[in-house]
Amino acid sequence: MTWDIRMRNTMFRKLPVEQATGQLYGGRHRLRVVYRTRDLVVLGLGVMIGAGIFKISGVQAAANAGPAVIISFLIAGAVCLLAALAYAELSSIVPVAGSAYSFSYVAFGEVWAWVVGWSLILELLLAASVVARAWSLYAAQALADLNVPVPEWLAGVIGQPKGFDVFALGILLLLVVLLATGSRLGLRTLWFMVMAKLIVIGLVIAVGLTYFDPGNLTPFVPPAEPAPDAGGQSVLNAVLGSVTGGTPQVFGVWGILAAAPAIAFAYIGFDLIATASEETDDAPRKVPRGMITSLVVAVVLYLGVAITLVGMVSYGRLDPEKVVLTTPFTMVGAGPVGHVVNIGAVIALTTVILVVLISLTRVVFSMSRDGLLPRGIAGMSRYRVPSRATLVAGGAAVVMSQTIDVLTLEQMVVIGTLFAFLFVCAAVLALRRDRPDLHRPFRMPAAPLTAVLGILATGWLMLNLKVQTWGYFTVWMLAGLVLYLVYGRRRSEMRRLLDEGPRRPPAALMTAPPPDLAGLAGPPPGARPVSTVPPPPGAGTPGVRPYQPERFDTGQFAQRHPGPGNAARPPQPPQRPQRPQRPQPQQPPPQRAERPPQYGGRPQPPRHRR
Ligand code: ALA
Repeated sequence: MTWDIRMRNTMFRKLPVEQATGQLYGGRHRLRVVYRTRDLVVLGLGVMIGAGIFKISGVQAAANAGPAVIISFLIAGAVCLLAALAYAELSSIVPVAGSAYSFSYVAFGEVWAWVVGWSLILELLLAASVVARAWSLYAAQALADLNVPVPEWLAGVIGQPKGFDVFALGILLLLVVLLATGSRLGLRTLWFMVMAKLIVIGLVIAVGLTYFDPGNLTPFVPPAEPAPDAGGQSVLNAVLGSVTGGTPQVFGVWGILAAAPAIAFAYIGFDLIATASEETDDAPRKVPRGMITSLVVAVVLYLGVAITLVGMVSYGRLDPEKVVLTTPFTMVGAGPVGHVVNIGAVIALTTVILVVLISLTRVVFSMSRDGLLPRGIAGMSRYRVPSRATLVAGGAAVVMSQTIDVLTLEQMVVIGTLFAFLFVCAAVLALRRDRPDLHRPFRMPAAPLTAVLGILATGWLMLNLKVQTWGYFTVWMLAGLVLYLVYGRRRSEMRRLLDEGPRRPPAALMTAPPPDLAGLAGPPPGARPVSTVPPPPGAGTPGVRPYQPERFDTGQFAQRHPGPGNAARPPQPPQRPQRPQRPQPQQPPPQRAERPPQYGGRPQPPRHRR
């Protein structure tokens, strides 16, 4: 079996599913459970409704698609939905903080996991930096709208598109400190700000629709015309140009398709929900639910804003270099609404940076815990959050935002994300083939067809990104590969585990081998497969371990958050021990949480559960 401990110890070594999920109830899980389904939806909206909603519909209508940008939003939304379904299935099997990185570790092996993780780091580092810069631009504009006097010495270092910027620096530092000192505060702040920005978006749509003129929607698909700037052409245009000799075009049907990858930036964020899996109660069910709900809500909101915007003013009157969501309001004489929009943008972008930083730290935390980055980074603080990963990742975002012209690199965020989408869709196929025995609380509907469609559609969007973006991306990935070969390949925990076997734990732990160790060693030859997650109702496969709800649902959540959403849970007796809720013989002792991250406890003979 591919997940057997006896597998060859090469850089294609795979993380056994049982080992990955073992973090939730065994030796490695140390993150605090804080999220409910509604928190996950807020988390998703917190990151999806950001720079995209305040800019992308106007820019893409003016530059590429005209009123048909509405179709581009639908296309990008459909591709993201395919990816979201794949994420949902994998999150229900491997509900751990590494998201696409961990899925790839399980499905394809370590070097592929590294490649995906490295691409996620690119996506998230750049997203935090880009959005911090955009935050500064909107904040400076909001101050100007409100006639707040700004001293001259400050005016030159705020609202700058590149170079040193006090606002971009300040917002990143503030959020990094907030997160490094405990995510509960971050979560409460997030709820408040997401509600505020939804109110602003509602206001934009409600007021904007009063200026709606159906005449602005014609022609719905403007006739194609030569693209003004051939220098920034996409890979697809470059290939087609060299084969057919044609020149790149904008508008028309190609324009609609060309706008879709830029719009994918707007939907980035649903995928980040998967990084919250280890901090979610009953993650195999709630993460898929939260992810898909938030994406659907975001698509509806983005469509609402796009329809409003192209209905308010003719796309031909918009300057793609300057248009933002306030522009149409200024053009129709509703400037004060534009001021509210600027304030809304400041709030909205704050939550994007917050969630992006949370996800970035979780990915860095997971990679460090697995030894592919220095393991010291995976240390936990007394707040039970990965403070070191937060400081390292946040510090990198601060440096990047102040030293690189990140606003020109927005497509790098998209390519990093789409690259992960490819692997996630492929991982659904690989795991269905290699591990059909795993129970999947969420199954991607109509897979493998939808998974293949997801790969093709994502690949298509990637081909519509600029040649320059591909060039930078290749350099980043090659640098990552060198780093892996020099560091991660040698320091990998999986490598150590396969070479030396599990570490010997302190004597106090020896009575309680974590269940993941049994999975790691693999069943005896000829044994029936072991399922790590609940079987579907009535499945009852003989020999498969029965569902143990306490594995994923500690029950503490209903105690801490009584309410209608938790009413179905059986009430917990007050004297019940806090964490974990597993029966005593298998309960990891408290010292375990203080130990450095590791893969298992005392070596155990292969064990098969019935
Ligand atoms: N989706 C995020 C935004 O639009 C990245 O800002």
